[in-house]
Amino acid sequence: MSDKCYLEIDGKKIELPIKKGTVGPSVIDVRDLYKNSGYFTFDPGFTSTASCQSDICYIDGDKGVLLYRGYEIEKLAEKSSFLEVAYLLINGELPNKDKYIEFSDAIKNHTMVHEQIRSFYNGFRRGGHPMAMMLAVVGALSAFYADSSNVNDPKEREISSRRMIAKVPTLAAMAYKYSIGQPFIYPDNDLSYCENFLHMCFAVPATKYKINKSVSNALEKIFILHADHEQNASTSTVRLAASSAVNPFASISAGFSALWGPLHGGANEAALNMLKKIGSVKNIPEYIKKAKDPNDNFRLMGFGHRVYKSYDPRAKVMQKACYEVLDALGKKNDEVLKVALELEKIALNDDYFIQKKLYPNIDFYSGITLSAMGFPPEMFVVLFAVARTVGWIAHWSEMYSDPLNKLNRPRQLYIGKNKREFVDQDKR
Ligand code: ACO
Repeated sequence: MSDKCYLEIDGKKIELPIKKGTVGPSVIDVRDLYKNSGYFTFDPGFTSTASCQSDICYIDGDKGVLLYRGYEIEKLAEKSSFLEVAYLLINGELPNKDKYIEFSDAIKNHTMVHEQIRSFYNGFRRGGHPMAMMLAVVGALSAFYADSSNVNDPKEREISSRRMIAKVPTLAAMAYKYSIGQPFIYPDNDLSYCENFLHMCFAVPATKYKINKSVSNALEKIFILHADHEQNASTSTVRLAASSAVNPFASISAGFSALWGPLHGGANEAALNMLKKIGSVKNIPEYIKKAKDPNDNFRLMGFGHRVYKSYDPRAKVMQKACYEVLDALGKKNDEVLKVALELEKIALNDDYFIQKKLYPNIDFYSGITLSAMGFPPEMFVVLFAVARTVGWIAHWSEMYSDPLNKLNRPRQLYIGKNKREFVDQDKR
């Protein structure tokens, strides 16, 4: 395969280098295109643009493959733990026992948040979305932990990374507790990462939370599945914000903002709401019809993906975890699950969905699972963000050790007015 290609513009032949990755499509390096031709490339939505080089995560959307640092997502979900996966994503290798103990102890060491952070929550309306609270409090960490905010110092980067992995679940549980009017529960460092999160969400001072192993194991899987997904909208947002060398907490808070939308991390909430709205198996054909109608902007939430044009490999693991949780909690006859199963069956056999390669994505089953665990829909995206914090941090760390890293500054195709004379207000 060639290592260069040519572009002919205005009678001039321009050579463009081709860069090859380990696997996956090669890229045409257009960095010097403007300098050599006076032209930019145009790619709204970045459908054909690689914004960076990365060795963290690989997706083959046609085959339905997802690898973290070369390991298949299915294997990691089956055999690993969330903290081990966090170590892998950030450091590039699975930890041996000593390294794992050092890492998990360090995370436990940071699970508490500054006591004054509690008072932030009192400023929010009780009914406010917990994700709205998260954007604010994660960004506000920069006002508390300025001693680890020098992004050019690898040691400070490590400390702030560990602080965020440890504190984001505590902040998320606090947002939930605040929204339901219950007192905050301090972390319990005798518990695993996921058990501790469940404890902070569901314990009350009067009653200890009894850990259900099936539920905490399923949460471990859910967190692993959501931990990273290469240059998605929120990770790209983190990279873009971080390219200005802003402090780490501000960059990660930008990731929270981008993740919240229903086309990204908010889709699991939207998927569950949609399943509830469909309500019964008999109403499915009406909704399938709406989804196929080009004049109706209704979409089957939890279906389709920008990259996967095959079954999302995470959706398969998620489906299994969903059954396990519903089984363990005695909720297998759940009406929403029945609607989901039937909807999936009908859509997978429908020409519209087959031709457009629309398969269930991870969000289709995660909402049902989290709901069965006791989380309200508005917490789904918060849980997604807790897990994805690890991926954002891995990409954020990688950026700073990449010699190609520079301020991200896309260009545009300007279609506005050309220079014109200012007209005084009384003459307009
Ligand atoms: N239901 C019905 N039709 C759909 C759906 C859907 N869920 N998704 C895409 N289509 C159709 C579009 O109408 C479009 O049809 P057209 O070619 O006739 O205009 C075609 O499929 C392609 O859709 P695009 O929006 O151009 O594809 P894109 O790659 O931009 O969309 C997206 C990806 C945004 C995820 C889309 O499939 C969608 O809106 N899905 C529902 C929301 C969702 O589940 N998001 C979660 C994504 S996973 C995640 O972030 C973790």
